[in-house]
Amino acid sequence: MRGAIRNIAVLLALGSLLSARQPVRARYAMVVTREPNATEAGLAVLRGGGNAVDAAVAVGFALAVTHPAAGNLGGGGFMLIRFADGRTTFIDFRERAPAAAGRDMYLGPDGKPTRDSIEGWRAVAVPGTVRGLEYACRKYGTRPWSELLAPAIRLAREGFSVSWGLAQSLRASKLLARFPESHRIFQRGGRYFEPGDRFTQPELAQTLERIARVGAAEFYEGETAQRLAAAMRENGGLITVEDLKAYQVVERQPLRGRYRGVEILTAPPPSSGGIGILHMLGVLEGTGFQKHGAGSAAAIHLMAEAMRRYFADRSEYLGDPDFVRVPVKGLLDPRYLAALRATIDPERATPSSQLRPGNPQGYESTETTHYSIVDQQGNAVAVTYTLNGGYGSGVTAPGLGFLLNNEMDDFAARPGFPNAYGLVQGEANAIAPFKRPLSSMTPTVLLRDGRLYAVLGSPGGPRIITTVLQVIVNLLDFGMNVQEAVDWPRFHHQWLPDTLYMEPGFSPDTVALLRLRGFKTETVRSMGEVAAVLVEGGWLHGAADSRVEGLAAGF
Ligand code: DON
Repeated sequence: MRGAIRNIAVLLALGSLLSARQPVRARYAMVVTREPNATEAGLAVLRGGGNAVDAAVAVGFALAVTHPAAGNLGGGGFMLIRFADGRTTFIDFRERAPAAAGRDMYLGPDGKPTRDSIEGWRAVAVPGTVRGLEYACRKYGTRPWSELLAPAIRLAREGFSVSWGLAQSLRASKLLARFPESHRIFQRGGRYFEPGDRFTQPELAQTLERIARVGAAEFYEGETAQRLAAAMRENGGLITVEDLKAYQVVERQPLRGRYRGVEILTAPPPSSGGIGILHMLGVLEGTGFQKHGAGSAAAIHLMAEAMRRYFADRSEYLGDPDFVRVPVKGLLDPRYLAALRATIDPERATPSSQLRPGNPQGYESTETTHYSIVDQQGNAVAVTYTLNGGYGSGVTAPGLGFLLNNEMDDFAARPGFPNAYGLVQGEANAIAPFKRPLSSMTPTVLLRDGRLYAVLGSPGGPRIITTVLQVIVNLLDFGMNVQEAVDWPRFHHQWLPDTLYMEPGFSPDTVALLRLRGFKTETVRSMGEVAAVLVEGGWLHGAADSRVEGLAAGF
């Protein structure tokens, strides 16, 4: 009988291997992004002898042209680099609040947050992307700046073929329709793009050409800065030329942790993501959740309880470390995590109200994007950057051709009230001039025996953190290949609202069991869009998420 069970287990394991989609394999270098033209731009840089940082800069600019929902000049993000020689760094080019921002700037007469942090001119925080990419290029790149902008300029000037997904997304955006310049450019004034149409962006090409010629100073002090600030003035926005001039990149040390013998390098504050995955893995490690099997109600239960507990802590303790003290050590202390683990009932969901009181609300659909690159030398770069919501604030400054972020909504407009992601956040993340809003972006690198093992990350707002967690667990606990680990159905819990969000890929029986255990479940069509590279057996294994039209390619 035992033997028979073991045989079945072996068959099941084999079955999952055989039925899983395979990653893209390459010997020397790999680029995985959300959009094929951007992947090609990165690959071309690597083929031409550039390193992974050069390729990351080229991809960053290319996505600003081909993936307007999230790729950007008008947003910000994080770049995690792990060099082949073992050095690591984290470039924080997160947006900052402008000087005129204030704690209560988004409260209406009734004291409740308005939608001003979510759409329109006042939602925009000072963009960091152009300065961040320039910083990376100067300090760690090997190719000339203008060469790295060339693919983006060509894509903007000559255009590219609109994909099925892009056509759908542009047409569906009510936000773009509300702002004349955005509606004109991205929706052709109502003559929407069809799949296969050519999309040219002459204003954006001009902006990129100026940046290629002059450098980031053009964006922060030159013509772009002047025109952006003038448009802000006319439309009630807050950003001035002084704000732009004063924008600074911060280079930080990645956060480090361990799980199942694998070293994790990940995003430090002002991201809440790195602390999040280390916190949740620390709680999970002692639960034995993996024995129940991927996709089982028992494993999902334990993982959701770990998620719930982290997000309760996140709401209280996380913010911009240049403004508030974030108790990183305390939050990741094994004794503290063991105490949290002890509060989990493996049979019954813990009501979130028993963890801490809150005031839940729903979601909006959103966008950000992540890309992962490994070069011939073994340097690894993970970049997550964003406009926050899909197409950001919806605003395109006239004549400049690029969308502006709505990153101000990542602050707690009113501590204790939910933002667009339904996230309840606290004092530590209140608005202040020049402060960076708390992020969930989690570019991450895994090392095995001190050698590069994986590069990954995802968009998804707070779901980024749980998405990265699940891919790590799928790899390390459930033995999936990297494509399978990325494609596997995902779930998410963020303490408040007290809801277990699940993608449709789970068995109805599993969902029914979770309900019996006390979870309120809700189906969400899709969560996260992972771009991952795994290094194993002398090969690179690239995985673009099956949920979207990305591309993994290498040589
Ligand atoms: O920094 C953050 O956490 C958010 N602005 C990210 C937004 C996002 O991922 C939306 N994507 N789907």
